[in-house]
Amino acid sequence: MKTAYIKIDPAAPDEKALKEAAECIKHGGLVAFPTETVYGLGADTFNPDAVKKIYTAKGRPGDNPLISHIADMDSVLKLAQYVPEDAKNLMEEFWGGPLTIILKRRKEVPDIVSAGLDTVSVRMPSHSVANALIRIAGTPIAAPSANLSGSPSPTTFEHCKADMDGRVDMIIDGGDCSIGVESTVVDMTGDEPVILRPGAVTLEDIVRVCGKGMFGGEYADAPKCPGMKYTHYSPDAEVFAVNDMESFAADKKDGTAIIAYNNYAHIAKGNRFYSAGDTDTEYAARLFYLLRKADEEGIKTIYAQLPENKGMGTAIRNRLLKSAGGRII
Ligand code: TXA
Ligand code: MG
Repeated sequence: MKTAYIKIDPAAPDEKALKEAAECIKHGGLVAFPTETVYGLGADTFNPDAVKKIYTAKGRPGDNPLISHIADMDSVLKLAQYVPEDAKNLMEEFWGGPLTIILKRRKEVPDIVSAGLDTVSVRMPSHSVANALIRIAGTPIAAPSANLSGSPSPTTFEHCKADMDGRVDMIIDGGDCSIGVESTVVDMTGDEPVILRPGAVTLEDIVRVCGKGMFGGEYADAPKCPGMKYTHYSPDAEVFAVNDMESFAADKKDGTAIIAYNNYAHIAKGNRFYSAGDTDTEYAARLFYLLRKADEEGIKTIYAQLPENKGMGTAIRNRLLKSAGGRII
């Protein structure tokens, strides 16, 4: 299919231009759009035929459920049967923002959105373009990250276009995503908040609001977050996650790149150095971008520094360990 492109300034979203994209969603089309985390590939949550096209466009396995995006708090009840007190408190504290909340699903939500589970995952973004699009479309928008299944999520318009050109009706260019890793996914259907995917909203944040919380999903014996069992975030280059960058000694070799914090630039020793910035927040914003850039530049081997397992570092480690497929040094 021929993909249409529109450019929208996040500082002042042009509602007239967005109306075209919203109409496309309303008529069962696919629209890729920017959020504060990564670009999403959206369709009308309540149109199962449209949602089905998402799975095809991404090459996504059918048993991996989708997040529904809303632009106002009340819309959560179009999707969920009820909102427990702790979930309400999390919404008030972190919406719009990078937190996806899993709740009991209303039967009106098509099976295909939840891949047959009795739960639904809901997120209200903070991105002006995403929120205006959802509001004008007048329906929750089901959207996974706008990458081909298995690839790093796109955090720039160019990377979204590289994967989705010809596969979707429209792509909205809203510039770069500020956070750079996908939202935290928290399951609120049990006695305690359970984080199934770490993100910018941390376990400490959730415990501060709810008084309790834990990691689950891949960290537990039986994964509840179906997406976790698939290969993820893999560039063509072979990725190695490096625990101790200080004592790491890479030989100078063509096609090798080092991703590390600025104060480790000396480690690169003639190899390509891709800066992860100075902080975990900067690293998160660059990680997927750099993994894709490495492929564009013909890099064959990437050595990427593992941050400390705390705060945003936990989310970066989670993505990096997956793209390294267990190769840790
Ligand atoms: O930041 C984000 O969350 C981005 C932007 C576009 O909003 N979206 C995103 O979607 O990352 P996706 O589909 O790439 O990842 C959603 C994750 C998957 O691992 C999926 O298995 C899990 O959330 N998930 C979705 N609904 C679920 C449910 N009902 N129960 C358990 N896990 C669920
Ligand atoms: Mg994804």
